[in-house]
Amino acid sequence: MKIDKHISGEGASLATLLAAAYEDGSGSITPPIYQTSLFSFDSFQAFEETMAGRRQQDLYTRVTNPTIHVFEDMMAKAEGGEEAVAFSSGMAAISSTLFAFLRPGDRVACVENVYPDAYRLFEKILRPFGVEVTYHAVSDFEDKPDLLKGCRIAYLESPNSMLLQAMDLAKVAAHARLHDVVTVIDNSWATPVFQNPLAHGIDIVLHSASKYISGHSDVVAGVVVSSHDKIKAIRELTLPLFGGKLAPFEAWLLIRGLRSLHARMKQHEATANLFIERLSAHPAVKTVCSPAPNSVPGLRGRSGLMTIDFSPSVGIEGLVDELKYFKLGVSWGGFESLVMPSKVGLAQKGEQNSLQRFEVPDTMVRVSVGLEDAEDLWRDFATALQASLD
Ligand SMILES: Cc1ncc(COP(=O)(O)O)c(C=O)c1O
Repeated sequence: MKIDKHISGEGASLATLLAAAYEDGSGSITPPIYQTSLFSFDSFQAFEETMAGRRQQDLYTRVTNPTIHVFEDMMAKAEGGEEAVAFSSGMAAISSTLFAFLRPGDRVACVENVYPDAYRLFEKILRPFGVEVTYHAVSDFEDKPDLLKGCRIAYLESPNSMLLQAMDLAKVAAHARLHDVVTVIDNSWATPVFQNPLAHGIDIVLHSASKYISGHSDVVAGVVVSSHDKIKAIRELTLPLFGGKLAPFEAWLLIRGLRSLHARMKQHEATANLFIERLSAHPAVKTVCSPAPNSVPGLRGRSGLMTIDFSPSVGIEGLVDELKYFKLGVSWGGFESLVMPSKVGLAQKGEQNSLQRFEVPDTMVRVSVGLEDAEDLWRDFATALQASLD
């Protein structure tokens, strides 16, 4: 099962690659959904040889499945990696990657303001298992090569969550190589359309595919892309034993999402640019957090997720309640526009989250601009902002 063999080679642009028709000789331009848990064998010999690893055949969907393989193949090509492995959520991708490489006594250097549940994974599961975790500012990762000395993994997001601070990936990757540190980055914000971390020397790229890759807010999924060696380590250890494998139908939806990823990202970017330009000139706005294209090497564009820090004159509750086209909710990257005030994240029950730990101001609102008409969205937002002023 392969996506079009004529397109999958070098030279094709990403939009062409993602839109390439699927090809298996049947004429179908989209892959079938192999909605099966297991694959049977013709003979004892075929069964035994497959179990022994001397023969390649799908065995069980927790490990491999042809529909899932098409998605993995497309993601590997999109990120410029050798291989990919897909998971049932972004968190399954993150935890399965970390547990494949970490052992008690290891240290992880993690970027500050990391995604809240990744932070909880570090604090509530990895730390009690004997993994030390230290948190560092983006600028420290860039400017202090020795920060990574003695580390096993550098866990990065560029940009990071909520504050959306981007980092120079080539610089950090070079520091990591000095100390033999494995670099892992969450590339969910930029997507392969705007950033390819592997090309800058990062070892492992992962995504919450629930965001832009799906694009339709109807799938929870994750994916990891890297070299054959690193994906092999995950495939042999944490993929089968944690069992957080993607399901075939979800893989099929993700393949459909990837077809339009390039076009959607361009539309999100255009609307984000319009919002950022107008908000930056608004007297009630202190800052708009969103890394500009080329603000760090290799960042080619801007997605639709930004965080606005308002002056105290803005009543956040009134603002979000006044909005008509923006839904209130977690997550982002779908067709629909969404807002999430930092006050809501700061109020989250349970274990401390990263917004609380890194003291994100309560005057912020995270905005995900969707695929609606940009001027309709702006009119709605500007009206609600005006109404929320003292
Ligand atoms: C940056 C980032 N990474 C990872 C995740 C986790 O992904 P999932 O919800 O698919 O498990 C999220 C979810 O919001 C996220 O924002």
